[in-house]
Amino acid sequence: MRHCLTPLDFTTQELEQLFDLAADIEKNPDKYAHACDGKKIATLFYEPSTRTRLSFEAAMMNLGGKALGFAGAAQSSAAKGESVADTIRVVSCFADIAAIRHNKEGAAYVASQFSGIPVINAGDGGHEHPTQTLLDMMTIRQLKGRLNHFTIGICGDLKFGRTVHSLVKTLARYDDIHFVFISPPELRVPDYITDLLEEKGYTYEECIKLEDVITKLDLLYMTRVQRERFFNEEDYVRLKDFYVLNEKLMRRAKNDMYVLHPLPRVNEISVEIDKDPRAAYFKQVQYGVYVRMALILTLLDIHVD
Ligand code: NCD
Repeated sequence: MRHCLTPLDFTTQELEQLFDLAADIEKNPDKYAHACDGKKIATLFYEPSTRTRLSFEAAMMNLGGKALGFAGAAQSSAAKGESVADTIRVVSCFADIAAIRHNKEGAAYVASQFSGIPVINAGDGGHEHPTQTLLDMMTIRQLKGRLNHFTIGICGDLKFGRTVHSLVKTLARYDDIHFVFISPPELRVPDYITDLLEEKGYTYEECIKLEDVITKLDLLYMTRVQRERFFNEEDYVRLKDFYVLNEKLMRRAKNDMYVLHPLPRVNEISVEIDKDPRAAYFKQVQYGVYVRMALILTLLDIHVD
């Protein structure tokens, strides 16, 4: 049985197949409309979510399946003290596949150890968010036509942002990518990420001001400051509006510097950018459904001819 706990669970060749499948689903949705007839996905969300949970549920429904689950620890037996291990054992009796989001790092891994069905990590604390990376990668592939040879700026909360950690680890398997990490000093990317880049021979730089580097970027990945992972509100308030991407800054960027964001956005991208053709964050959401459909089919080992 196969799980998706980190994007590194897939080889680059398997990722390519997954993106090809997602692209085929986008082109021929009818072909896949009954691929999961009779199947169920359980979405076990102990943390808030709009996109990810609904995207998984929509993905299963688009494949002809059904969805069940809970949206918030308070609505589950976790509130009574049940462990993730017991919950997944129980859920394995009801569903064919599960997507789990939890505030603790490693929760999806624990679930996978006790599960009778494939487990997808839909975000574990400040650690990883593999399906966000799959859709980020698919968006980059569709917009740029490639997954190599570019300079990517990653801006905002690089310390707690799990989407950043999964994305960098995954990009660090493709050729000739230069990373520019833009963050306040308190929120810089963890050493284990920069160590990995050094080990693998990637070049990177770290800076504080977006305006200093925006002209050289081929892609800009913005993130929100992760309020829920801060130890005190004062620090959050001080850092929350550190970056605001606005029209003035975008005028200095390349004509094809696409802006990505995992969403939800708070203030870090001004709404005036939404109409800029380089704003790709709502496209990402759409690709997210296709890529999750492809992932469900792959983990359930369902093939459609
Ligand atoms: C992200 C997450 O949950 O990590 N959201 C998402 O799933 N698209 C990013 C965030 O919450 O900032």
